[in-house]
Amino acid sequence: MSNLFVSDHPLVAHKLSLLRDVHTEPRKFRELVRELAALLTYEATRDLALRPKPVTTPMAEMTAHELVDQVGLVPVLRAGLGMVEGVWELMPSAEVWHIGLYRDERTLKPVQYYNKLPVAPTVSICLILDPMLATGGSATATVELLKKWGVSRIKYIGLIGAPEGIARMQAEHPDVPIHLAAVDERLNEIGYIMPGLGDAGDRQFGTA
Ligand code: PRP
Ligand code: URA
Repeated sequence: MSNLFVSDHPLVAHKLSLLRDVHTEPRKFRELVRELAALLTYEATRDLALRPKPVTTPMAEMTAHELVDQVGLVPVLRAGLGMVEGVWELMPSAEVWHIGLYRDERTLKPVQYYNKLPVAPTVSICLILDPMLATGGSATATVELLKKWGVSRIKYIGLIGAPEGIARMQAEHPDVPIHLAAVDERLNEIGYIMPGLGDAGDRQFGTA
């Protein structure tokens, strides 16, 4: 069974079209990234475990449910930052652990510049948040960091993936489900996703 899940939700398709549009301004772009992150996470967390929880309603006592897992959100700086708020709306008690990576423009390899993970893991499942899965270098590096940290249950939530990056993730980390809004055609000669949406970090932060 494939570990790639591409949303077929009409709201996702509609919002992604707006996000791709070159005329979409940073403010609207950030709003769309936030909304898309929430919609994709809603789908990606369908299999989270529940345990029974007694609740007293105004009418009666009953057995309801609560989430078992302590969830960690792992945004990859910079572009993953914009996805956090949308997911936090759904899971306010999730911990957020930032990872700073940038792609060396020449080699396209990820360079790590921020990581404050404590020695022992504090969460039982991590959701990696990063809009763009291009060569897959940043995604695989982040998964490796989290596995070394001691977390084995990891999901990747992105917006657009290139076939190259998806294939790399599936080869190196077949245990990590990949949730995306779309799979695009290819990478261009400088490692950008085509047709993609340009530079997700620059478009969010107005630094294009
Ligand atoms: C972008 C994106 C991913 C990475 C994907 O970040 O947010 O982290 O590129 O490319 P890859 O799959 O080839 O590794 P970028 O390096 O541009 O940094 P930024 O978010 O700080 O702009
Ligand atoms: N990072 C981006 O922001 N966009 C791409 O197309 C590839 C990597």
